[in-house]
Amino acid sequence: MTYQVILPAAGQGKRMGAGKNKLLLEVNGVPVLIHTLRVFEQDEACSKIIVAIHPQDEWEFKALFKKYNVAKAIHLVPGGKERQDSIYNALKTVETDGIILVHDAARPFISKEHIYRLTKMAEETGAAILGVPVKDTIKRVQDGVVVETVERSSLWAVQTPQAFRISLLTEAYDRAEKDHFLGTDDASLVERLGYPVMVVEGDYDNIKLTTPEDLYFAEAILKKRSFS
Ligand code: CTP
Ligand code: MG
Repeated sequence: MTYQVILPAAGQGKRMGAGKNKLLLEVNGVPVLIHTLRVFEQDEACSKIIVAIHPQDEWEFKALFKKYNVAKAIHLVPGGKERQDSIYNALKTVETDGIILVHDAARPFISKEHIYRLTKMAEETGAAILGVPVKDTIKRVQDGVVVETVERSSLWAVQTPQAFRISLLTEAYDRAEKDHFLGTDDASLVERLGYPVMVVEGDYDNIKLTTPEDLYFAEAILKKRSFS
């Protein structure tokens, strides 16, 4: 069982406010981008890594691959305006069929075990995503007033990776482009084709580094792992 992975890495990291791509920030002395890449580099089931990058980051990214001895071949593609555009550019470079994973480069704590479970589910069903049950009470709010308390038991916070049969994801992206549909994740493009998407229970550690305090959580997760 092998898979290919697309790592969208072409964002600007505006909410992190570091004045540069947040993937270049270091956690425990190693850039976020490298933490994420290493997981897939060390997974023998991963046959190809495609990274969508912003042209302004090209030289810095290449220097990091060299500095950290990233051995597996990395295929670089130019990112687009939105995350969805970056992934679509990458998807166009995938030739064979099989399973494709899409994983935010900003989620460095994905485990090999969850990748395995997700990929297996996608092989069986065509589409699978990682998620965790929501812990907070969620309310719908309009103009500062509660409109509704949403029943929590059916709410899941979804993460990446998200895994699909390549032909299915390509069809979903082609259709989204045609319809000018912009989704907040990859599965939403597949859902609108009417195709069932399976949820595999993930891990609360698989955070996306989005705002500055996430860097503290990231240090804590690495510390916890170094003790276990
Ligand atoms: N991404 C991308 N192309 C874009 C926008 C985002 O490849 N046009 C990537 C980011 O690099 C990140 C992932 O998609 O790895 C998830 O996006 P997000 O967390 O929103 O990162 P940024 O867009 O960089 O952050 P922000 O929205 O705060 O600017
Ligand atoms: Mg963004």
